[in-house]
Amino acid sequence: MSAPPIEETALPARLAVLVSGAGTNLQALLDACADPAYGATVAVVGADRDGIEALVRAERAGVPTFSLRVSDFPDRAAWDQAFADEVAKYEPTLVVSAGFMKLAGAAFLDRFGDRYINTHPALLPSFPGMHGARDALDYGVKVTGCTVFIVDAGVDTGPIIGQAVVDVRDDDDESSLHERIKDVERQLLVDVVGRMARDGWQVSGRKVHLR
Ligand code: GAR
Repeated sequence: MSAPPIEETALPARLAVLVSGAGTNLQALLDACADPAYGATVAVVGADRDGIEALVRAERAGVPTFSLRVSDFPDRAAWDQAFADEVAKYEPTLVVSAGFMKLAGAAFLDRFGDRYINTHPALLPSFPGMHGARDALDYGVKVTGCTVFIVDAGVDTGPIIGQAVVDVRDDDDESSLHERIKDVERQLLVDVVGRMARDGWQVSGRKVHLR
């Protein structure tokens, strides 16, 4: 699997950013995209719920948004299909899960699986799932961090693009640790997305090479 050849990829790259919460990673991308040299623009922000700060951030930046709730569809597959259709309207170069608390289904992966990345608050393959920071803290590890990876059909199992390390402190609770992780996570995500947008990427098996 590889990105389109650079010469065929029009810059700025179009990002679809998927969110479920505070949206500080989204904000970091919006801020980075304000510089034309970054090479990307946020084309749409999609959410699985209403009333979240991330959507306010997108609206403040003048970025189109949509929100589709699973409970408004007959089943998960119908929601997944509708979500994929909505994202596709914006013709994204890259789809970025940034605190999006839903697993993509078959329809979404069929459409975007070659260009769908996620960020996770732990050093995968350790501590996948919904509570990466809490699970690392409970386990007693001395270092943890964050991982940006290409999404596949598993739970946080896809090929790893980039990672950054954070020390765990004796007095950390879940909140303090997660906030320190998010400080480095935002930088990592901005760096990885910018490099993918500007230069492209290649995947061989589990190895991802940024060009
Ligand atoms: C981030 O730490 C992200 O890695 C995590 O949610 C946070 C969102 O923060 N995602 C997951 O745990 C997904 N399994 P934000 O809304 O402030 O960007």
